[in-house]
Amino acid sequence: MKTPTNNAFFSADPRDRFAVALDVPDAKAALGLVDRLEDSCRWLKVGMELYYAAGNSLVESLQKRDFRIFLDLKLHDIPNTVAGAVRSVAGLGAELLTVHGGGGGAMLRAAAEAAEQLPQAPRLIAVTVLTSMDRGELTSVGVSASPAEQALRLAHLAKNCGIDGMVCSPEEAASLRSEIGPEAILVVPGIRPAGSAVDDQRRVASPGEAISRGASLLVVGRPITRAEDPAKAARAIVDEIAAARTV
Ligand code: C5P
Repeated sequence: MKTPTNNAFFSADPRDRFAVALDVPDAKAALGLVDRLEDSCRWLKVGMELYYAAGNSLVESLQKRDFRIFLDLKLHDIPNTVAGAVRSVAGLGAELLTVHGGGGGAMLRAAAEAAEQLPQAPRLIAVTVLTSMDRGELTSVGVSASPAEQALRLAHLAKNCGIDGMVCSPEEAASLRSEIGPEAILVVPGIRPAGSAVDDQRRVASPGEAISRGASLLVVGRPITRAEDPAKAARAIVDEIAAARTV
């Protein structure tokens, strides 16, 4: 496996290679959880649930605590609106922002062009196929390809439109890395350290496996956020990432 070359963006510190998903309903819960993480991680992922409840002021508080922010808002609208949304959130200083690959080429290009014109734009990451969508679900919305074929198609489209990276499952990470090349930022959720509950994830891999398949940034939620000692759980993941990267 070719090592991803986006290491200038992700430092050599293994704590820089995973984001803790703050899937909680409000700022109080988020800050309480973050306090328990201590210095075990660098990235926090703020998704729709938390962002719609706690907004920009929470993102600013998290940044003041020196975390890097991945804003997982999965933008999907007409090109003009998505470009405007990219401009609106850019000032926040989040370093990663998701858009939906299924929004199409014009939308993806508009997002990328908006980001290019900003002094402090986030890197844009395209969501390919939601892991909740299986072949039957894709067929029901008129897509005859398999989830893997569709993920690859949308990854190529996103790359050609100037998008910086993609979200994919651990199963698709190796093929996307070899197809899309070493520069793309591959964001991989569905991470489960050995012995932890799979929960509702179907396609999972351990942190070490996902990194060695070419993931740039892992997304880890419940194995850390529901652990008795979240900092200890996060440090175990740091150790696995460090070991995988020396292979
Ligand atoms: O708790 P868990 O580790 O399963 O959380 C995974 C995180 O990654 C959640 O925030 C979820 O929304 C996100 N995610 C995912 N699958 C995708 C995209 C994002 O699980 N395809």
